Amino acid sequence: MRGGPTPAWLLPALAGVFCFAVVLVASDGYPRGDPHAHFRNPEHCLKCHLTHQGRMDPDRFSVETDAVCLGCHKKESLGRSHPRNVRPREKYRKMKIPPDFRLDDDGRIMCLTCHTAHGAYVSTVKVFPKQSPFPSDSSGGPYYKTLFLRRSNPREGWSSLCGACHENL
Ligand code: HEC
Ligand code: HEC
Ligand code: HEC
Ligand code: HEC
Repeated sequence: MRGGPTPAWLLPALAGVFCFAVVLVASDGYPRGDPHAHFRNPEHCLKCHLTHQGRMDPDRFSVETDAVCLGCHKKESLGRSHPRNVRPREKYRKMKIPPDFRLDDDGRIMCLTCHTAHGAYVSTVKVFPKQSPFPSDSSGGPYYKTLFLRRSNPREGWSSLCGACHENL
């Protein structure tokens, strides 16, 4: 599904795939389910995705997705703070944003610029060197929280995430 826009006619079929995925994750032996499984509920698609000519466009995002996140995650308890609400592609910034780092429909940074919506909750790969495994009562693993980050590296942590936009940090 990566690379290039998904044809709109495929979306009803994909919605089916996502619903199926919920079942798979829940019975996958992963410790606790994905806390964001509700994103795959068909009622919630349009909280993030915009429609074009009556069909969902998987590549355009509402300017209100941050409010969705902040409905559950208190601002004070977030990880590092970072300016959102800025348009990195504005000419004077000359910042190149990798295409998988989505911006909202107004070209601004949102929570989902750095965090995936449909990514896995846990992985067998660490997100940073000293990460402790996710407590697991099932076989397999150890599993680590991905923190839904678009980039991470078990040796350097999330500097690869920052480095995707910032050349020198
Ligand atoms: C919380 C916001 C949010 C919700 C809710 C959401 N999406 Fe997405 N969707 C995204 C983002 C952001 C991406 C970009 C890839 C990613 O972050 O995983 C995306 C990507 C996609 C893609 C492109 C595939 C890809 O991996 O690039 C499809 C198709 C899609 N979503 C369908 C859906 C459907 C169908 C629903 C409802 C069942 C839904 N989405 C619910 C935010 C959301
Ligand atoms: C309906 C409530 C709800 C919404 C909406 C929601 N989350 Fe979460 N999220 C959770 C829960 C529950 C967890 C599991 C960790 C916990 O209990 O704090 C979690 C985990 C996470 C984590 C991993 C951190 C960890 O310790 O597990 C990140 C990152 C995250 N959410 C970001 C987001 C972003 C970005 C959005 C908006 C697109 C969002 N969340 C929307 C409930 C929500
Ligand atoms: C510039 C990238 C970026 C943006 C934008 C961003 N985050 Fe994060 N977020 C991170 C990184 C990196 C971490 C892991 C490091 C840390 O915890 O400081 C993280 C951690 C988190 C965690 C886990 C905190 C913890 O320690 O358990 C949550 C929850 C979260 N972010 C939610 C959000 C929400 C909600 C928004 C939007 C309001 C948001 N993030 C915007 C990069 C980002
Ligand atoms: C999607 C691209 C993108 C990613 C990923 C990103 N940044 Fe940024 N960052 C920006 C933009 C755009 C600005 C300019 C904000 C402004 O002009 O106010 C910025 C500004 C900053 C600033 C200056 C803050 C200020 O208040 O002036 C710091 C520090 C920073 N980023 C650190 C980070 C770190 C650390 C990470 C990784 C966790 C990160 N950035 C990831 C785009 C990004």
